[in-house]
Amino acid sequence: MKYMGANELRDTYLKFFEEKDHLKLESFPLVPKNDKGLLLINAGMAPLKPYFTGVQTPPRKRITTCQKCIRTGDIENVGKTSRHGTFFEMLGNFSFGDYFKEEIISWAWEFITETLAVPKDKLYVTIYLEDDEAFDIWCSKTDVDPKRIFRLGKEDNFWEIGVGPCGPCTEIHFDRGNGSITTVEEFLKASDEDRVVEFWNLVFTQFDKDEEGNYNKLAKPNIDTGMGLERIATIMQGVNNIFEIDTVKNIVKKVSELSAINYGDDAIKDISLRIITDHVKSVTMLISDGVQPSNEGRGYVLRRLLRRAARHGRVLGIKGLFLKDIVDSVVENYREAYPKLKEDKEYIEKIISLEEERFNETIDAGMNILAGYIVELEALKETVLKGEKAFKLYDTYGFPIELTEEILEEKGISVDKEAFILEMNNQRQRARSARGESSYMGSDENPINKIDASINTEFVGYFETEIEAKVVALADDKEMKGELVKGEKGYIVTDSTTFYAEMGGQVGDRGIIISESGEAYVYNTKKNVGGKIIHYVEVKSGNIKKDQKVSLKVEIDRRSNICKNHTATHMLHEALKEVVGKHVNQAGSYVDDERLRFDFAHFKGLTEEELERVETLVNRKIMGVFGVNTNLMTIEEAKNSGAMALFDDKYGDKVRVVSIGEFSKELCGGTHVKNAGEIGLFKIVGESGVAAGMRRIEAVTALNAMKYMEEKEKTLKEACNVLKCTEKDILKKIVSQSTEIKEKEKEILELKNKITSGAEGDILNSAKIIKGVKVISYALKDVDGNALRDLADKIRNKMESGVVVLVSNVNDKVNLIAMATKDAVESGVHCGKIIKDVAAIVGGGGGGRPDMAQAGGKNPENVTKAVETTFDIVEKLVK
Ligand code: ALA
Repeated sequence: MKYMGANELRDTYLKFFEEKDHLKLESFPLVPKNDKGLLLINAGMAPLKPYFTGVQTPPRKRITTCQKCIRTGDIENVGKTSRHGTFFEMLGNFSFGDYFKEEIISWAWEFITETLAVPKDKLYVTIYLEDDEAFDIWCSKTDVDPKRIFRLGKEDNFWEIGVGPCGPCTEIHFDRGNGSITTVEEFLKASDEDRVVEFWNLVFTQFDKDEEGNYNKLAKPNIDTGMGLERIATIMQGVNNIFEIDTVKNIVKKVSELSAINYGDDAIKDISLRIITDHVKSVTMLISDGVQPSNEGRGYVLRRLLRRAARHGRVLGIKGLFLKDIVDSVVENYREAYPKLKEDKEYIEKIISLEEERFNETIDAGMNILAGYIVELEALKETVLKGEKAFKLYDTYGFPIELTEEILEEKGISVDKEAFILEMNNQRQRARSARGESSYMGSDENPINKIDASINTEFVGYFETEIEAKVVALADDKEMKGELVKGEKGYIVTDSTTFYAEMGGQVGDRGIIISESGEAYVYNTKKNVGGKIIHYVEVKSGNIKKDQKVSLKVEIDRRSNICKNHTATHMLHEALKEVVGKHVNQAGSYVDDERLRFDFAHFKGLTEEELERVETLVNRKIMGVFGVNTNLMTIEEAKNSGAMALFDDKYGDKVRVVSIGEFSKELCGGTHVKNAGEIGLFKIVGESGVAAGMRRIEAVTALNAMKYMEEKEKTLKEACNVLKCTEKDILKKIVSQSTEIKEKEKEILELKNKITSGAEGDILNSAKIIKGVKVISYALKDVDGNALRDLADKIRNKMESGVVVLVSNVNDKVNLIAMATKDAVESGVHCGKIIKDVAAIVGGGGGGRPDMAQAGGKNPENVTKAVETTFDIVEKLVK
């Protein structure tokens, strides 16, 4: 057995199966497509589900992949054990109704014992209890020692998640010990102790489990295998821990450098080093696949991982932002398999620092809240913080429970951990039901998702909007139907269509379907999970039947507006690249008949000038009346032609490239105008930030742009009427009016101050003597902070000795000020303390020096009480 690096191992596996006639596909992104039931790709077979269930025809019956996966179910164990990680790569080979047990068992054995040359006396095989067939194949097709095959029950050797394709499996295990195990009991014990590790699972996907729990035999059985790349790498590299394999070790080294903590010196610190390594790896991959930090779904997974890593940075004593500095090392070690990482590096780093920065801010807010809890608890002489409060810190302020516990411990306070866990579990439950995790096949059990793979609707609507076709399937929400009648809502599938199904940001078409017996309104067109074009209809008259001939008519005006907006979106994309920079890449878009929306990664808002340049460039190109051309080509040809694209669609050998003159060239399946001139006019109506590092531009075209401009013009005219001036003079008029208003405000203020100074006499006369100190506490109205301060200063000077407290409400706010003479301070008066207590009465806070303090409040109704209480407060202070 020779040492093999993880990258070499990945290649070796994929080549082995390519030589066995498998089609190698790149890893699918971590974000599942068309799979509502799944948060993140968690197994090699997950993105291939439509092939397993037969709703989609695979490009070849044999496929092999190395799939990026994320599982966070065991996140608490990451770093603590030798084999838990949230990100991992699953090597897999799949047969869709092609080869079965015999081939896969002998190939697996060949790969392990010949290609990798793993010693046979270190291997064990487990099979499903009743699977005699597998046992016979292992014995006759390989030279495994039958004594090394153990039979296990359903919990170990039957693979299923929820409903859907499943079946018995056989697993291959490696013994880190001497390979001498002879009984099942010994085997299970060694597995529990991590001496024996399972590294390859071969699933014989023979059944389709339904909602009632029946195992229905599949017409064509499949093969689904999964081998953890990190696990097999530990075996090939003779190490015991996934953090010690070559690629991962390099990242640990980087973290170790940043924290100046030597890996291996301290078992507890090693856990933090491993957690940071694993989590930054996952975060890097997630961001590269388009996930953004947020408070729900995938975004929350990302946020949690990132904050956990940041917090462990604090545990290691790292100061400031550091997570982004690890990205480089992740990219270097994984770029061979995932070259996109290199392109995305800068973007990933930016998103990570923004999120880390944000967390640093919430940590401070959380600290203040926690300090408040401590004061409360100490006042009540309690020593346990309520679980809900710890959970609030965790949930709202992103405050890890460990940190809460740590800080409280110093004050002799603990956390009601049980109640905290209960809150956590409740939240998990909510999250789980929100994402409907129970159904493994995507929870989308709509019958229209199950139509036969052989049905293929031809889309002929790029330039035509009307066509004659045949109805091949009908359904409502419950079942497939022979007909849909007046008043019924449902779905119609035809053998060809001119209706564009919602995709790539472009909305689905609307229109009508007419047969000799009835008419249906198509209110939307979408693809089902198998990629078939489905018309969403409501029957308006008569009925529509299966096998009937029908005419399909797309709403022409709506389609035409959609085309204008879509072509304009491409032009906007290119213009942004030219004006803002090459790094501007489409992160998302939305195109309907009224407007268009374009999201892209960029770190600051666009300036007015940039927006103007973008808009002008697009309009200039529209006026260039360039022809819009579509060419079908291979992905390779498209890449070479310089077309912009994400190139993540693996299916179909030909792709469409849409060019607008020489200006723009982009991979796109959508519908477009024939000539850019048809767009007429392009107007940006909004630019905003949608997430950290993500900008959004909204725009309108053609008559909608005209309408937008007309409305602006109308507003302008109305404003002119109100201001009684011409459009030309409006700006001048507004400037002169606002100058006038400012001058008037100043005048009013001066008058008010004059009035208040008239109050000086009254204020001085209101003085009381408390324990020999002259005290003035007086309420005024409408005196702003500065005037109040001047007034208090005057009073203090005039009273020669004593303390003056002035309170005044201005609108809904209260201003407070206290000033004391030197001798009053010497006798115990403290303005800071006085103002703190008085301000509390009017719902505010503040403080200051012994001789001067200022504050604000928000409850004007308590002013009188505040004034009265001042005397008591002073009395307590004076010695
Ligand atoms: N789908 C199987 C697994 O995830 C191979 O283990």
